Amino acid sequence: MKLVRGIAEMRALSRSARFGGARLGLVPTMGALHEGHLSLVRAAREKSDLVAASIFVNPTQFGPNEDFAKYPRALESDIALLEREGVELVFAPSVEEMYPQGAITWVEVEELSDRLCGKSRPGHFRGVTTVVAKLFHIVEPDLAFFGQKDAAQVAIIQRMVRDLNMPVAVEVCPIVREPDGLAISSRNAYLSAHDRESARVLYRSLMRIQKLFASGERDSPKLISAAKRAFAIEPAARLDYIEVVDPESLEPETVVTRRSLAAVAGFVGQTRLIDNMVLEP
Ligand code: PAJ
Repeated sequence: MKLVRGIAEMRALSRSARFGGARLGLVPTMGALHEGHLSLVRAAREKSDLVAASIFVNPTQFGPNEDFAKYPRALESDIALLEREGVELVFAPSVEEMYPQGAITWVEVEELSDRLCGKSRPGHFRGVTTVVAKLFHIVEPDLAFFGQKDAAQVAIIQRMVRDLNMPVAVEVCPIVREPDGLAISSRNAYLSAHDRESARVLYRSLMRIQKLFASGERDSPKLISAAKRAFAIEPAARLDYIEVVDPESLEPETVVTRRSLAAVAGFVGQTRLIDNMVLEP
């Protein structure tokens, strides 16, 4: 496994691999790797000849009052995990390497970037699409792997790839959960034992929706109310949003007549967590 810090070196390595005929898979991450990330790495391993993972805590996707400074960083143990999974290339650039002084160019998927998390985190998705576009240009992967855990991110990246004719196939992998249902996240590390217990409300609220949906309810406001009631009895958690949306446009659906996404975000203490579930009529 090779640890690469520079853009020119990364590009040279991935180009020579691709010129040799290898199918290159990229797994973009912000590090502090867990089983969710590793599931993407394993999917990449299966579908690609050569796997590259990037580790970069991207400052442009954090708001001024968010957790960029305290976001967990664990490069050494991340590298050990990636090595064990048989990853060939780890791209871990510095902020200066990725954003040289004076960079003023952005990639933004309009409209979609203001929905779901984009509503409560202005500028977040612009930071995501900009860094992912840069990673695609640097690594030039054939395939790129993303988790359904961040369903809005998936929709926005797929739209960017389509609108800008990027020559990369986006592969989406299922949400990996803890045994009690909590979606695995690097931010779960912030939770105290008490908050960890309260954090189960996100999954519980989605399960309430799923149960009602399975019993035939198709009216989104009713599905949403059931989820809100789960939050109402969990005082340590504060709901940010719960919405039923079209998985591609992220626009709210009032009645679920086709494949839809129930998406939730909430604060447990200071920690903001998200989760989602697909509803298939
Ligand atoms: P990060 O939060 O590190 O996540 C990296 C990838 O792992 C994302 O595609 C995310 O959806 C996926 N992932 C995280 N938890 C998961 C889980 N429990 N199950 C399945 N997949 C999971 O998402 C980002 O980083 C950044 O926004 C990034 C795309 C790297 C751009 O900076």
